[in-house]
This record gives sequence, structure tokens and C-alpha cells, in this order.
Amino acid sequence: MTDTPVDLGPAATVRVATSVLAPLVAQGAIVRRPRATAWAERHQTDRTARAVLAGLRARHDGAPLALRLGPRRMVVVTQPDHVRRLLEGSPEPFTPATTEKVGALRHFQPDGVLISPTPDRAVRRPFNEAALRTELPVHDDGAAFTDAVRHGAGVLVRELHGSGGFDAQTFARVWWEVVLEIVFGAPARGDHELVDLLNTLRGHANWSVFHPRDDDLRQELARRLEYRTGAAEPGTLAAAARAAGAATAPGQVPHWLFAFDAAGAATLRALAVVAARPEVRARLLAESADPGPGTALLPYARACVLESLRLWPTTLVVLRDSTEPTVWGERTLPAGTGFAVVSAFFHRDPERLDHADAFVPEAWLDGRNNADWGLVPFSGGPVSCPGRNLVLLVTSHLLVHLAAHDLRVERGRYLAGDPLPATMDHLGLRFSRA
Ligand code: HEM
Repeated sequence: MTDTPVDLGPAATVRVATSVLAPLVAQGAIVRRPRATAWAERHQTDRTARAVLAGLRARHDGAPLALRLGPRRMVVVTQPDHVRRLLEGSPEPFTPATTEKVGALRHFQPDGVLISPTPDRAVRRPFNEAALRTELPVHDDGAAFTDAVRHGAGVLVRELHGSGGFDAQTFARVWWEVVLEIVFGAPARGDHELVDLLNTLRGHANWSVFHPRDDDLRQELARRLEYRTGAAEPGTLAAAARAAGAATAPGQVPHWLFAFDAAGAATLRALAVVAARPEVRARLLAESADPGPGTALLPYARACVLESLRLWPTTLVVLRDSTEPTVWGERTLPAGTGFAVVSAFFHRDPERLDHADAFVPEAWLDGRNNADWGLVPFSGGPVSCPGRNLVLLVTSHLLVHLAAHDLRVERGRYLAGDPLPATMDHLGLRFSRA
């Protein structure tokens, strides 16, 4: 194994650009494009991407793979130690505020912590940790949040019994209602206009700097969020945000709403596996039958969501830019070099993981997965996701509520056994009564 980056030749550069990076961009980094995700599943694009990177890793002895994309130098890393170096070395000398991310996120969250300069981060990161209660497995307002989840699950179950099933689009509508209730309270539950506005701007963000910024629309979003945040009752994330720092809140809330979308996708995919595997469902039901006092922790259900995120990561690539020249093995790479961690490659690497393509939630419970720097569904180090525990609380509760019903998932035979498909289009999922 070597730490010295290798410059890829033109043929290998084209292969990485077309088989690894292009499918990620095509599916939409900020909001998924349904036609592209369906295409990605049909072609199992993650399988091809993994094969290309595994081949280059073998050929170059584990060297980081350096490629030129126009004026940009991008290094695709292939070893967990390199992932660790990038993530532990964030936000300096490896900033998460990369050229690509700033270009995309400025469309709807120009003050978001993820793209903030380091001095602003010093205020915004602690604000996020305080409002989201990053260190707590169950947020102080967990009972209110899980009530919102129970309400949403009830709507989906009525749909199941009324029309015989629900698809990803119905799930998304209800999921947004749950999210709006968690963030702003029950009066905001039906504010689909807010979600549509956010999603329009996320659509622009998919095009990054190639789409002009619509400042009128962004200000309209900011106005609506300000109103909702001001009106939010205690027991909501917005109220927790006001308490953590009223002046900082407006810049951070757009990221929260955006990021909850990924949590919905992870729940849907986990539910698809649960519906296809009676043994997983039985364990979920056993766990939820004996929840103990207070808001239940549901470790196995959390592990099922984590496993869904390992197998089908929602952050397709974790990016960093170096802020100063950095020494890698025998080379020094200039400041401004981009680094990419392709999640699907690390998360299913058979060289490190016996269970690469299998559904094994237990590996999150016995510590195996937590010790591996290649498994980064919520990133890692000082810039890791401060919403991790909150996400796992909300999604685990939704999963057990829905698992209580005997569901059938279309195309379930692909999910009933291992190996699981490399790419799963969550937007194409449909559930019915068994
Ligand atoms: C399944 C759901 C989610 C996943 C997989 C996820 C994953 C991630 C990842 C990978 C990062 C780091 C990106 C990087 O290193 O460049 C991140 C950052 C962040 N996430 Fe999440 N996230 C999720 C949901 C949420 C939610 C619901 C919230 C808030 C309510 C949230 C708040 C944040 C914030 C504020 C950051 C920026 C942290 C910083 O820059 O210091 N996330 N998330």
C-alpha cells in the first residue's frame, strides 16, 4: 500500500469521470431526479463504479487516484486511513466548504455551517450541536418528535388500508408533514408550499454554479422560514434553535429541512428490506414490544436504518478541499486540491467487509462497523453530521410503526436474500398489504 497519489492517464480519467462521478451528478447531488435514479437502478451504476475503483486500487497499490477535470485537480481516495485523515483534518486543512458544495448550497442556504468559512463555523457548529442535541441519543424534545412520527405513521397506515398501499410519492408527502411538525410544530404540518419552494431551489442547486441564483425566491424562502421559526411552539426544533441563538437560526434551518429528505429515503429503503425479510421484521416487533420507560431507544431499529445507509448511502460522495499544501506520501499537493470519498465504494468493499453486500444490522451493534473509517454514512470527525442521533430517533420510530403492519414490497424478491442490489431507487418503491 502506498500513500503517494498517482496521476491517472487519460483513459483511466475518462473511466472514473464517466462511470463513477457522472452517475452521481446525474442523479442530483442536492435533490434526486426520479428519471435518473430509475436509470441508475436499471444499470446498477454503483456496481460499475465500485468495480472501476477496485480495479484502479489494485493496479496502483492503494494510491490515492489523482485526476484532472478541466482546471480542477481531484483526488479520489481508496484507503480508510485516507478517509480518516481527511475527516479528522476538517475543517482545516481539509475544508468541507468545497468549490462544488459552495456553488450548490448557496442557492438556498448561503449561511449553512457546511459551507461556512472557519471563523463563522466557530459559531454555527456549536449552535447546531446545541439545537439538535448532537450528543444525546434521545433529544430533550424526543417525545414530541416521536408523537409527530406516530401521527404520520397513522396517515400511511390508513392509506394502506384505504387504497391498499402507498408508493414513494405518498410516503414523501406524509414524511414532509412529519418533518414540518418536528421542525415548526403541528400548525406547519400542511405547509407544502414551503416544501415546494425549498425543492425548487434545491433543483437549481443540482446545477451548482451553472444555474443563476434566484435571490427573490431565496428571500421568499427565508421570509417563510423566519415566520415559521418565530411562530414555533416549545417542543419543536425551531424553538430549540431560538434558544440556542436566535440570530444564528435562520441561516441553519434550511439545511435541516433539506437533510431530513435523506432520512426519509433511508427509512423507505430499510422498510423495503423489512417487508421482504420476515426475520428482520420479527426482531423489530420484539424490540418495540418491550420499549422500557420514556422515549424508546430502539437500538436494533436504529441499526436497520444505519445498515440501509451503509448499503445505499444518501451522501453519495464526501468532498473536501485542501486549504494549504498537503504532503501525501512522497508528493506535496497544492492548496485547493479537491478530495473525494465515494461512499458506495467504501461501504461495500469486500476486501474489508465480510458482509459487504449483506443486510447485517448487528455489525452496528457489536462495534464492527463503528471502528471502520471507511463506513461514513454520517461522515466523521469534527464536521460529522450533528443530526445523526436525531435522525436515528425519528427514523427508527417510523420504521417500527410501519413494521407493525404486514407489508409487501414490489420487487421484493431482489431484497429477500443477499447479495443485495448495489443501487436501489427509493423513488420507485411501492408497498401494499400482504
Ligand atoms: C439520513 C439522514 C442524514 C444523513 C445521512 C446525513 C449525513 C450527513 C453528512 C455525511 C454530513 C457531512 C458532510 C461532509 O462531511 O461534508 C452531514 C452534515 C450535516 N448534517 Fe446531516 N445527515 C442527515 C440528516 C440530517 C438532519 C435531519 C439534520 C438536521 C436536522 C442534519 C444536519 C447536518 C448539519 C448541520 C451538517 C453540517 C455539519 C457541519 O458542517 O459541521 N443532517 N450530514
